[in-house]
Amino acid sequence: MKGAAVLGCGTVGSGAVRMLTENSGQIERAAGQKIVLKYVVDIRPMELPQGVVMTSDFQTVLNDPEVSIVIETIGGAKIAYEYTKAALRSGRNVVTSNKELVATKGDELLEIARENGCRYLYEASVGGGVPVVRPINICLAGNRLERVYGIVNGSTNYLLTSMEDRALSFPEALSEAKALGYVEANPAADIEGWDARRKIAILAHEAFGSRLADESMVPTAGISGIVPDDLKLAKELGYAVKLIACTHRCDGGYSAWVSPALVKDGHPLYMVRDVFNGIVASGDCVGDVMFYGRGAGSLPTASAIIGDVIEIGRSVPAVERFESAVAFVADDPEECRWMIRLEEKRPAPEECEIVTAGNAAAVLTKPMTRAQMLGFVGSALEAGRFGCPIRMIEA
Ligand code: HSE
Repeated sequence: MKGAAVLGCGTVGSGAVRMLTENSGQIERAAGQKIVLKYVVDIRPMELPQGVVMTSDFQTVLNDPEVSIVIETIGGAKIAYEYTKAALRSGRNVVTSNKELVATKGDELLEIARENGCRYLYEASVGGGVPVVRPINICLAGNRLERVYGIVNGSTNYLLTSMEDRALSFPEALSEAKALGYVEANPAADIEGWDARRKIAILAHEAFGSRLADESMVPTAGISGIVPDDLKLAKELGYAVKLIACTHRCDGGYSAWVSPALVKDGHPLYMVRDVFNGIVASGDCVGDVMFYGRGAGSLPTASAIIGDVIEIGRSVPAVERFESAVAFVADDPEECRWMIRLEEKRPAPEECEIVTAGNAAAVLTKPMTRAQMLGFVGSALEAGRFGCPIRMIEA
């Protein structure tokens, strides 16, 4: 038997409580032993299944030698960081959905786990219920992975789908999504791309053994600058606009970016709509693999948490997969074409095509790196106002 405690019983934590209670037989068979939820730590009083102790004092958990699995669903990088360190230092395994903490402090927390002979597992931090961390870390680990990219933020995907289907403006789509609970009260981390940046940093770590601490260097653009005309222009070209997070190998190591991007009709990510996530991994032997499903929500995210709990129940040992030579290349050398909407009709700058849809017009650049695109915007477009640069994904 292993005892478990859930820290923070909000949307995800309550899903974990429910699964541990209602699917306990299923989990026991999969883990090879009983997993018993003993504590929920939260400052809000709430009704819990019989036998589960409610406490606001994390020390109660640390004082109980039967608890060997701590499920951290508090979120943020303050209390969650302190509690996670304390749990790992006491030799307890920690399972989390907290992408902010994994992306910013993951290297240190993994090191503490190594030193104390326990695990720090975070399948639920990327893709919600979609298994992607462990498949990349284990199932695909015999491949040389070249690229991992996709839609890792359900809230922004929902917003873009609403704008595309019903021609809503960004503010209209945002207020509707808030009313439906599909975005946070403060949605900045989603719409500015920071949530996707954390997730791609975690996936780069799994794919390339890179340091998580490089997260802050990933060039990131969100979707707050996207307007319905961008979507109309994309449609005219046979594409849809998605917020894509990407990490790929390049000369000198690996690079990463988060950006609105045009995805062509027929590409597997084109049909990833609403709050769904889709992630493609490309390996030298397997080719392209796509992971698809619900990227957020109480029970889907709990499903990923319970997968990690089962791994601990089975006593699977941690495996180091660091490639010492993999460095982060901030100035991504990879080129792509860019679509840049013009706010007034004007002749195409040299070597650019123009696309129009109704009154909207955009330039399509020749292939160029992000740095070149920024230079191009500064020189060729300086006199006119223009929209958010959108990458074109050709494959
Ligand atoms: N806001 C996040 C999303 C929640 O929409 O993907 C899950 O990480």
